[in-house]
Amino acid sequence: LPLLIVTALVAYLVGSIPFGIVMARLFGLGDLRKIGSGNIGATNVLRTGNKLAAALTLILDAGKGGFAVLIARAFFAEDAGQIAGFAAFLGHCFPVYLGFRGGKGVATWLGTLFALAWPVGIAAALTWLATAGLFRISSLAALVAAALTPLWAWVLGFPTTIALLVALAVLIYIRHHQNIARILAGTESRIGKK
Ligand code: G3P
Repeated sequence: LPLLIVTALVAYLVGSIPFGIVMARLFGLGDLRKIGSGNIGATNVLRTGNKLAAALTLILDAGKGGFAVLIARAFFAEDAGQIAGFAAFLGHCFPVYLGFRGGKGVATWLGTLFALAWPVGIAAALTWLATAGLFRISSLAALVAAALTPLWAWVLGFPTTIALLVALAVLIYIRHHQNIARILAGTESRIGKK
């Protein structure tokens, strides 16, 4: 058990790495927290107009979630993978390096899903893409995908992941409260527009 706690702690610290901020700095785009929504995620990196930096942020923020799950599962069992994925997600949302003020967790959630149950990850990604294609709103796509993913897990035969997916969906909604207000007010920013 102490080893499991160490694993969760390491997953949290890996999840805490704000790749959006790192990429924005590497590409000379400035302080991400002073741009667009002020969020540290790939969507906000995209608002700088740098697609490569945004894609790298998405891949790395997703990768840290997947990495945490795979490492934990290699050392322990299925449950440890879930704990590590959850810890990495919490790390992204409440990173120790940024005074616990972090992101909204969508990319890390997706990476965790792909590592835990890849068919559910694909279903979640397709739900995000379909919603984003329809409405061109990143946050709305995340909210729709997060809500539907427990259902996809059930349909695709991964019932042991449902409790975790519901908990993550609740956290994703809490982290998006400002986006939800903007969506309802009709003022949420659209992908591809400044
Ligand atoms: O992944 C975060 C996304 O759902 C919303 O980002 O920058 O529009 O608040 P943002």
